[in-house]
Amino acid sequence: MPVSGVPLRPLIAATAAYSAPALIVLSAFAVYEAISIWHGAAIWAVLTATTFLVLRRQHAALVAMRRYVERSADRWSQAAETERPAGFGDQVLSDLAAAVDRLVRQTRAETSRATTLIQAREMVIDAVAEPLLVLARGGHVSGANRAAHRLLGISVVGRDLSEVLRHPQVLEAANEVMTGGPPASVEVTLALPTERVFAVRIDPLPAIAADGAAAVLMLSDLTGLKRAERMRADFIANVSHELRTPLASIVGFIETLLGPARDDTAARGRFLEIMNQQAQRMARLVADLLSLSRIEQNEHLPPTGRIDLGQILGTVKATLDVVAQNKAMTIVLDVAPDLPPVPGEADELQQVFQNLVDNAIKYGRTGTSVTITARLAQEWHPSMPRTQGASTGKSQPRALSVAVADRGAGIARQHLPRLTERFYRIDVARSREAGGTGLGLAIVKHILNRHRGALAIDSAEGQGSTFTVYLPEYPG
Ligand SMILES: Nc1ncnc2c1ncn2[C@@H]1O[C@H](COP(=O)(O)OP(=O)(O)O)[C@@H](O)[C@H]1O
Ligand SMILES: [Mg+2]
Repeated sequence: MPVSGVPLRPLIAATAAYSAPALIVLSAFAVYEAISIWHGAAIWAVLTATTFLVLRRQHAALVAMRRYVERSADRWSQAAETERPAGFGDQVLSDLAAAVDRLVRQTRAETSRATTLIQAREMVIDAVAEPLLVLARGGHVSGANRAAHRLLGISVVGRDLSEVLRHPQVLEAANEVMTGGPPASVEVTLALPTERVFAVRIDPLPAIAADGAAAVLMLSDLTGLKRAERMRADFIANVSHELRTPLASIVGFIETLLGPARDDTAARGRFLEIMNQQAQRMARLVADLLSLSRIEQNEHLPPTGRIDLGQILGTVKATLDVVAQNKAMTIVLDVAPDLPPVPGEADELQQVFQNLVDNAIKYGRTGTSVTITARLAQEWHPSMPRTQGASTGKSQPRALSVAVADRGAGIARQHLPRLTERFYRIDVARSREAGGTGLGLAIVKHILNRHRGALAIDSAEGQGSTFTVYLPEYPG
């Protein structure tokens, strides 16, 4: 049997050691002439040869066993079992091989459990919506969740924090936390690539982790919050300003009537007329503000009624016909027959169309007409939420469209996206003169939000504007 890789020298040494006692005994027999020297030499040669062969076989088995263990160690991260060497008949050695196999299997199971745990932990960190960085003791980033990669780029791990978040306050806070300080929180503006405001919080880990992680840095985006705060402040400033102007005028006239014009009856009539107008303007503003706040409060509640739009539009036309006539204008109502009902609140939808038709009269040209066209919409407006049919796989729910078109001066393109903001007016003086509050289209937008509808504005300067309302059909 060819035995490869068995080193010869230890084999010879072992054979010599095993056969030495026999050599001594045989030599003694020969000396005392119990056996002849030739017999002794022959017995010793046979013994030595047998010992050599037995030892060579055992050495070969040990060498094969060593290779087997080495291969198992090298391969235990792989799924395939290490193939056992052939001719492994010896019971002790085959038990040994089985023990090695068990060891390999257990280590493999432990490794895979550890990997699963690490993956689970990474999944949890990835699921955190806020960008999160793990900071290692040296100050470099040793881990990042998906949100952090999205915000800061994919190559943040391994880089120094100063390269990832170039902000002195953040670096200073991180430094303090890493040198044993308490958790730190700073608010910073980062250009990523647009400017955004973040609250950066750095928390030390209770102990340095095995991978060197020492602290966790979390970024919370405050941009929306800041914007809302600014909007609230702007809104209060706007309301105060809108109320102060008529109020100042009323106070001024009261003082005049109490003072210099006390006995001027002609002036009194004129002044009272102006005061009345200003008071009504304030009342309109307060009514619109209350209406807006009520609508906003209910915006999350779906409307409960089942509305016939033709009827609502008829009422709106009847209410505003007189206003149109004052400007020598006419309202033309064109409602397609057999329009399906829409889910809605009657008084809110009436408010929508009243505002749009009122604007069309206010900003339309004297002597022209305002047309209201109600149809089954050809297309679902892109900004309308598609909750009902699209998800259930049924045919898509239809929408109704109501277009209010005027032949006024039209609206320049840059104003279109901002028209539904509160108090946004293209020409403040003109709006005020016409009794506007600047809240009409904001009210329209919020009512349509509640109705899961949409507003589209098309305008050509010098030719007029069309405000189209889309509302989903009543389901079922
Ligand atoms: N049909 C229209 N044609 C031209 N401009 C319009 C029209 N409707 C609205 N606007 C512009 O949008 C602004 C906001 O409208 P709105 O919110 O109804 O406020 P208000 O009518 O009280 O001024 C108006 O001031 C006006 O500048
Ligand atoms: Mg208006």
